[in-house]
Order: sequence, then structure tokens, then C-alpha cells
Amino acid sequence: MGTVYYVSKNMGLGILVLAFSALATIIALSIAYNKERAKNRGKLEGGASDSTTSMPPTGPFTPKEPWDHFRLPDSLIPVSYNVTLWPRLEPNADGIYVFTGHSTVEFRCVRDTDLIIIHSNKLNFTTFFGHHAELRALDEATVPSIQSSWLVVKTMYLVLKLSSSLSKGASYVLYTEFMGELADDLEGFYRSEYVKDGVKKVVATSQMQATYARKTFPCFDEPAMKAVFNVVIIHRRDTVALSNSMEIDSSDSLFDGEPVRITTFEPTKRMSTYLLAFIVSDFGNIGSKDKDLLIRIWAQKEAIDDGQGTYALNVTRPILQFYEKYYGTKYPLSKSDQIALPDFHAGAMENWGLVTYRETALLYDPTLSSTGNKERITTVISHELAHMWFGNLVTLRWWNDLWLNEGFASYVEYLGADYAQPTWNIKDFIILYDVQKVFAVDALASSYPLSRPEEEINEPAEISQMFSTISYSKGAAVLRMLSEFLTEPVFVRGLNSYLNTFAFNNTVYTDLWDHLQKTVEDTPDLHIPQTIHSIMNRWTLQMGFPVVNIDTRTGSVSQKHFLLDPYSVVNRPSQFNYTWFVPIKWMKNGVEQPLYWLLQKTDTNSQMRVSGGDWVLANTNVSGYFRVNYDLENWDRLLSLLNTDHQALSILNRAQIIDDAFNLARAKIITTSLALRTTKYLSKEKEYIPWESALRKLDYYIIMFDRTEVYGALQAYLRKQIKPLFEYFRTVTNNWKDIPTRHSDQYNQVKAIGVACSMGLEGCRDLMKSWYKKWMENPSHNPIHPNLKGTVYCHAIALGGVEEWDFAWRMFQNASLASEASRLRSAMACTKTPWLLNRYLEYTLDPKKIRKQDAISTISNIARNVVGLPLAWNFVREKWSYIFEQYGKGSFSFSNLVSGITMRFSTEFELQELKKFKEDNLHVGFGSGSIALEQAIEKTKANMKWVAENKAEVLKWFTEEAT
Ligand SMILES: *[C@@H]1O[C@H](CO)[C@@H](O)[C@H](O)[C@H]1NC(C)=O
Ligand SMILES: *[C@@H]1O[C@H](CO)[C@@H](O)[C@H](O)[C@H]1NC(C)=O
Ligand SMILES: *[C@@H]1O[C@H](CO)[C@@H](O)[C@H](O)[C@H]1NC(C)=O
Ligand SMILES: *[C@@H]1O[C@H](CO)[C@@H](O)[C@H](O)[C@H]1NC(C)=O
Ligand SMILES: [Zn+2]
Repeated sequence: MGTVYYVSKNMGLGILVLAFSALATIIALSIAYNKERAKNRGKLEGGASDSTTSMPPTGPFTPKEPWDHFRLPDSLIPVSYNVTLWPRLEPNADGIYVFTGHSTVEFRCVRDTDLIIIHSNKLNFTTFFGHHAELRALDEATVPSIQSSWLVVKTMYLVLKLSSSLSKGASYVLYTEFMGELADDLEGFYRSEYVKDGVKKVVATSQMQATYARKTFPCFDEPAMKAVFNVVIIHRRDTVALSNSMEIDSSDSLFDGEPVRITTFEPTKRMSTYLLAFIVSDFGNIGSKDKDLLIRIWAQKEAIDDGQGTYALNVTRPILQFYEKYYGTKYPLSKSDQIALPDFHAGAMENWGLVTYRETALLYDPTLSSTGNKERITTVISHELAHMWFGNLVTLRWWNDLWLNEGFASYVEYLGADYAQPTWNIKDFIILYDVQKVFAVDALASSYPLSRPEEEINEPAEISQMFSTISYSKGAAVLRMLSEFLTEPVFVRGLNSYLNTFAFNNTVYTDLWDHLQKTVEDTPDLHIPQTIHSIMNRWTLQMGFPVVNIDTRTGSVSQKHFLLDPYSVVNRPSQFNYTWFVPIKWMKNGVEQPLYWLLQKTDTNSQMRVSGGDWVLANTNVSGYFRVNYDLENWDRLLSLLNTDHQALSILNRAQIIDDAFNLARAKIITTSLALRTTKYLSKEKEYIPWESALRKLDYYIIMFDRTEVYGALQAYLRKQIKPLFEYFRTVTNNWKDIPTRHSDQYNQVKAIGVACSMGLEGCRDLMKSWYKKWMENPSHNPIHPNLKGTVYCHAIALGGVEEWDFAWRMFQNASLASEASRLRSAMACTKTPWLLNRYLEYTLDPKKIRKQDAISTISNIARNVVGLPLAWNFVREKWSYIFEQYGKGSFSFSNLVSGITMRFSTEFELQELKKFKEDNLHVGFGSGSIALEQAIEKTKANMKWVAENKAEVLKWFTEEAT
């Protein structure tokens, strides 16, 4: 996973002089080419320069030239690279950080061509006889000479036109020397800066996915262009260099009188460019070696000395062992490094053998981190390690299939985490974190299918858009459904066969279906009514999902494309007419029934016809990716069961009934009152997942109505419902002195306090204020349990003034643990004081105050606050072109900004503002946020209708139920 954002930098010309001497030093390292190069070296070609060799040599611009296409031609295939890189951790005379390097790539010609087209972006080249590279043949083939060479900025290529054609079947070697900026743009080879004890420190690190390897060295930068990489890194002797494979040699040398160390790495396995990683830092590590596998956790030395890497180290080996068993394949590499970086945009990136993380996603402090932090660390590690096989060993051919890579890792991360933490019941959480989350997005008419045709995804911005909730969470939900109906042993057998067949190679998603299908055919007692292809095509090639209607009076079962907004129009045709092959697990009166397949639009299942007090519940444990609706009588029976004996249904089913009901009400399939009635039993509910499901749904009522008179009645009702839970945890925790033992109870305690305080339950707010006050009185001793900190900080800051806020700001700046800093950063957005919020918004533009990686989420947090919303909206509109320039291009969280800001929009006025915003900024663009913007417009319209239709009913219901 992982995408990063774009930054432009002014770069002086003086750099060229310095660059040359640096390059000259590097050249001395290269064994080949010495003689030819000597005469004609030293001219650097600018990536964006207008010098003559940077233009195509002849003719007017025609978009049909091979270098105008974003996809590489299929004539050349890389075999191996020798890459040497030398990042400078100090700025040069012009204040610019650079890296220099040289690379040889051996490639095979598989189709005659007189063009070499290889990716290169923002690199300046040393020229040889006026050209950007040198070409030589392997074996006996003759080498054509280079006629001309140039860089194409738009499609990011270095192009070499040859005097004659390369011969099919022959191999060649291309040599380049280049230099790039080690910018702080989080793309490619970049620098990460942080301050330690008042001293600025610099780390050189990398993020190649999806299209940034080409910004580090010239390469065939597509996932199917796998090759072996021989990496050498030159670095200061007080630093350590890391890459994907194990370091095998290290020697000291003097370049330009500068003492350096040269670290050589063993050849990598055959791998894709987007999984490369190069890091130079003065970090420390904690490691363990067992049999053949070395596992290391890297971070700033202080964090390692403080033991913050221990938890990650503890869980890594069991998780790897779990996957070795699950995938039926040994861990493919000789070492596993994981490193926490202070400046990192994505949560983590699965570089093969050298996984990079945000500090919050890897470092754990037993006394300072919360249960949530610990869980996140466990699941993120599990997700990234899942990719070591699925994604890295076997790689999808092109980015259009990203959903399979990310969906798969997002599903099995729960299995790996469950193995490492078996008491957590972590597998259940997929319902909250993925299934319910993506149901919300995928129920919009503007959704899109999981799988996209390869030819639709070409440019980097299109590739970035693939990193979406749909890919991750719907992918996970659909694969979980597949594993459920095949049963896990069958799913795993097919998976093993797929991985073994395509190891070190590339696939398309149907290759997995082929192997699963074969496994199904080899399993005689498994009955699947259709092929895996035809079942899965309906889930991957059409957007959305069905609502299954079960009429227990007649036994009729039917399906319909579920759309959250009943008035929305679907413009995207589907070859399957929005019908699915639906595997329905179900139960009658608590007894599990045989799996039932709904294969048509309507069907009858006489087993589902019941009467009297008998009830039917379908989609048990939410194993399928669909919603369920019943006739009113069955709804009544389920609701009365909840009220009398809610434990007769599993935790997941309780959660699902609530989630389905609220969504069906939004879609006008059932009444809003019926949905609200599913929350009445909550006064008896002690479990987290049903509560969380309900609160997420009620959150919609809160954001739609917290600026209206409905809010008072809503608060009164929720106060009444939460009170027993709040009191329960007060008792369980011995009047808030202890922490509940069960994992999910720890979350639920936080929920109980959070809701109680938001709804104004007697005693809650004073508790928050008093805890925070104790901390303010003695800042070096924080008495608040890490689990509760986020909630306590937020409420105390909301109830307090500038003193509370400034205290949080000081603590934020001094925080030694990243997750503590992150909690404070969110909590500071909770203040109700407009000038504090405005000041905070301004801080997001200053990377010294709020790191770039955190700017977008800080603005979104402010927009989530009812007082902050209009301020954040004004701010974003005013600064749009700047924000877009900084964060918009290819950023994953950028769409979160758009959806965060527009979350409460529900009036005609707000809709007009949004449309105007879109028009006013068409010339600037919306980049990876453009789908989110369309969705925001659609959502605003749906909100307007919903409020108009439901306000009276909701006010009446809450008023009646509040007493
Ligand atoms: C590359 O060349 C361009 C144009 O000559 C120059 O502006 C830029 O600073 C150079 N970049 C590096 C990293 O040297
Ligand atoms: C790459 O480096 C290896 C090891 O140093 C060497 O054997 C090989 O010849 C080099 N390949 C090329 C194409 O220069
Ligand atoms: C790591 O494992 C060791 C040995 O099992 C255990 O003593 C220690 O508490 C664990 N540390 C963390 C932070 O989980
Ligand atoms: C990769 O898979 C393709 C298609 O199945 C096959 O032709 C090729 O030989 C494989 N390559 C490697 C290196 O295994
Ligand atoms: Zn991933």
C-alpha cells in the first residue's frame, strides 16, 4: 500500500558544479565503461530542461509515438540491475539535498525495436558523447549506436533512438549516471527530517509504490517488469544503509576526501521495482535470529533503547510462521527488516524484506500506548507481512488488479493478527473496520467495480485512485465471503497452488480463480452451484452489492441492487444487470441451516417460510457481502428477541441487524422508526461491536441534527441508553481505577465514557476535567490511562479554553511517543473556541508545527467538530490551490479531506457552495480527490432529502423514547 504527495522545489543551477565532482567520484566505482567514458563526460541533462537533447529529434508532436503512452512497449524485458546510490544527508552549497548514482540494467530484446524506452523522472543525466546513456551488448550480438536520446517529462521516460534495430533474443546492457534531488516530498528516494534534542537529523529513505522508483534510477517501472537487483549504497560512516536484501559487504573508502562506507547487498530475488527500498539512517535496531531468518526492528536509537520495538519484534515471528503455514510456502527471503520512519505518508509500505512504517504503526510503549495502538500495530504488521507472499512473491501484472493485492492483505491481516493475539477475537473486527465501512461507500450510485479493465488505468493519477476503500475493504469482504463459502481448507489449498505456480512471477486476478476452481473440482463433497469465475465476476465486475429480501410468510427470496439513496440513478450498465450469485448462510430459531444459494433475481425457499414465534436470520456472522431485509413480522420477532434475550443472537448478528436496519431505512426500504427501534435493546448490551455499529449509525443522526432542535431529544435518549453501560464500567473498573481485562471491553469502556460525556451524562464531564487538570498540575506525570487519553483530552479541551489547549500543544511538541502526539493532535481539534480552531488551521500550513504527513488529517479533524466545520471549509476554499499543490496529486488521504469537510452538508446552500467550489477550482483540479468530490455532491443531495423526509419522525421518536 502507500501513496505519497507531490512537492515542487526551486533548485539552483549552481548545483551542477558540485554535482559533477560527486558524480566523478561515483564513476570511479564502476568497473565497466571506464575507457569510453573518459573523453566525453560531464554534461548534465535536466529532467525538465529545454536543451536540445531533451526534445524528440524530429517532426511535430503526434500523440501516437511509443513514448507518448504511459505503458511501456513490450519489446524489452529487464533481467537484472546493478544500482549504486549515494544520498547526501547534508545540503550542498545551494542548500539542496541530492543523491547521485549509476546503474546498469541488463535487458533482453523480445521484439525487434530501434527504441529503448525506460522510465526516468526528475533525474539529471551525465551524457556520453551527447547521449544520456551507454549501450553495450551481452554475448556476441552487435550493438547499434545511439542516434539520439531525450527525456519525456509527461510520460516520464528516457528514450534512446538507435541507428538500427536491437535483435530479438539478444541481451544488452544500458549504463547511466544520474543525479536527483533528495527532496522532502515522500516520493521515490527522499529525505525525512526530524528534530532530536534540538538538532535536525536527516534520514534518506524511499517510497516507490506506485510509480516513484523511476525518480530514483532509470528503470522499467512496471510491476510485471521483475528483475534481480544488485544494490550498493554509499553513505557516511556514522550511518547504516539498508535495502531489501541482506548486506553482504561493507568497506570504508575516501571519496573527494570524504570518508564514506560502501555497503553492498546480496542480489535480491526476482522482484518488482515498486517494492524496492533504500534507507540510510543512524537508527538502531533490535533483532532476533532463528534458524535462517533474521528479524530486525529499526527506529530512532532512543526509541529502540526505550524498548519501543520489542512488541513488534515479539509478534513478527509468530505472524510470519502463521503465513508460512497458511500460504504453504516458506518466507521467501533471508531477512525481515521493519523500520519506523518519522515522516511517512502511508500507514506502511510492504517493500520486500524492508517494510516501512509510520512510527505509530510500529512502535509500542507498554506504559504509554493504548490497546488501540497495540491492535493497530499488530494488524498493520500482519497486513504488510501478508504481502511478502501475496503481492511480493506473486505480483499482479498491473495496477488495475490492485484490489486483489490489497483486498487479500486486508482480509488475511485478521488471520495473522488472530494467531499472534488469540484472546482478542480480532477476526470479528473486520465487520466494523472493513465490511460496514465499505458498505457505506459501495451503496452509492457513484461507486465503481472492484476490477477495472487494464487499459483504463494508465497515468500515475489513475493508479493512485486505485488505492481506495473499495480496493482494500470490499476486496477484503468479498474474499472473506469466498473463503467462507468454499470453507477455509479449500480456499487455502487453491491459494497454495496459485502461490507455488506463480512464485517470482506475475498474474491477473483470474489466475487465482483458476486455481480455486481446480481445487473445488478436486474436492468431491463440496458443492458449488457455479464456477468460481462466474460467481466472482458478479462481485468484481459490477459495483455495489444486493439487499436480499426474505418474506418469511411465503418463503420468497429476492435480491435488488442496494442503493443508499433511493432516488439515485445508476449510469453504469452492468452485464449482469445488477444481480449476484449470493451465498446465504442462515439460521432458523437459532439453528444453523444448510447454505442456500440465491442464483436468480427471485426465488422461493420453502424452508424460510415460518409462522408463530419462529424467526429467520440470514447472513449469519455477516459472512456474505450483502444486506438482508425481512417482512415486518420477522423484523418484529427479531426485535423482540433482542429485547428479551439478545444473547440468543451472536455478537456479529446483533451488530448486523442494527447496521442493516439503519441502512435499509436510509434507502426507504423500511421506516426510520423501525431502524431506531433496533437501538432500544442497547440499554442491556455490554458488547463493543453492536454498540459501535449503533453509534456509527446514530452518528449520522448526530451530524445531520446537531445544528437543530432534534439534538436535545437525541441527547436525552442516548443519555438514557448509555447510562447502564457507563455505570457497568464504573463498577467493573472499581470506580475508574482499573482497566477491563477483555480486549473489546477496553474499547467499549472508552465508548461508554465518550458517549456519556458527549451526551452530557451527569458526572462524566467533571471526571474528564478533573483527570486532565491533574495532568496539567504535574505535566511530568500523566495519570490518565493510555486507553482513555484520547477521549479525556478531547473532552477536557472542548470544555476548557486557551489554557487547556496551549497545555496540549506543549505536550504535543514534547511528546516522545508518536501515538501520544497523534492523540493530542486530534484532541486539539475538539476545542469549541473559534479563534483557537482558526489558529490551529493556520498551523497545518507550517510543517514545523504540523508535519506534512499530518496536515490533511488535522484539517479533517477540525471539520468534524461542529464549530470547526465552517472554519475548515472556508480555510480549504481559500487555500485550495496551495493545498492541492502540496497534497493533491496522488495522495491517498486527500479524498478523506473532501469527504471529511463535506460530511455535515445537508442544505441547499451548502450544495450550491460545493458546486461553486468545484467550478471555481476546475482549473486547479482535484486529483485523487475528484471521485470523493463527486461522491460529496451526491451525498449532500441525499442528506438534504433525508433530513426533509425524516426530521419530524426522528424528533417525535426521540422525544417519546427519551423519557
Ligand atoms: C537538474 O537539472 C535542472 C536543469 O538544469 C536543474 O534545475 C536541477 O536543479 C537539477 N537537479 C539536480 C538534482 O541536480
Ligand atoms: C553487476 O554486478 C555483478 C556483481 O558485482 C557483476 O558480476 C555483474 O557483471 C554486473 N553486471 C553488469 C551488467 O554490470
Ligand atoms: C515480548 O515478549 C517477551 C517474552 O515473551 C515478554 O516478556 C515481553 O513482555 C513482551 N513485550 C511486549 C512489549 O509485548
Ligand atoms: C511467468 O509466468 C509465465 C506465464 O505463466 C511463464 O510463461 C513464465 O515462464 C514465467 N516466468 C518465470 C520466471 O517463472
Ligand atoms: Zn497493503
